[in-house]
Amino acid sequence: MMYGILLVAAGLAIVLLLQNKRKRERGGAGEYVEAAPSLLSEQQIKLIRDSWKRVVPMRKQAAELFYARLFELDPELKPLFRGKLDFQGDKLMTTLNVVVNSLEDLDSVETMLQAMGERHITYGVDAAHYETVGAALLWVLEQGLGAYFTPEVEEAWVIAYGAIATTMKAAAYPQPA
Ligand code: HEM
Repeated sequence: MMYGILLVAAGLAIVLLLQNKRKRERGGAGEYVEAAPSLLSEQQIKLIRDSWKRVVPMRKQAAELFYARLFELDPELKPLFRGKLDFQGDKLMTTLNVVVNSLEDLDSVETMLQAMGERHITYGVDAAHYETVGAALLWVLEQGLGAYFTPEVEEAWVIAYGAIATTMKAAAYPQPA
């Protein structure tokens, strides 16, 4: 399975994550680290679920904040979104909800994420955009969770987002052999 293959990259990613954890400034390149889902411990899955539970009641505001932050980080992304942003934001939150509910068995959502990654090419999305989206997502979590956004919660989300983005990108922009 592809998650197995990603383990080596994930190990490296975790080392980089730990090294940069304190140095990072939100909003720049390198905000999230690619990782494999098997690296999520039970405790990290719990942290993601508990924190997500706090975000779900404010999902509308979270989605609004997300797009505001995304376009602040990269105004050139705005024209890619042709549909209504509230509708789009709802779809994003619903997808994240599905993934959060499948963290023990990400293989079960692999096909969905791969197809979504392929569709994102048709929206004009590049591999590099995943970093900006990851940065905007983490920023929203920080705003929404406040003190509950501990370094441990952040680290768990970084790994989870990395796994989602890695799966979508691998399907959309395959590396030449
Ligand atoms: C965790 C990663 C992501 C998730 C879960 C996600 C989720 C979604 C979903 C559910 C849709 C609805 C249409 C569909 O299913 O194909 C969508 C559309 C879209 N996404 Fe993403 N996305 C992600 C990453 C990105 C990135 C990195 C970009 C780059 C800017 C992006 C830009 C777009 C655009 C432009 C659309 C179409 C919007 C429209 O038609 O107005 N997404 N996304």
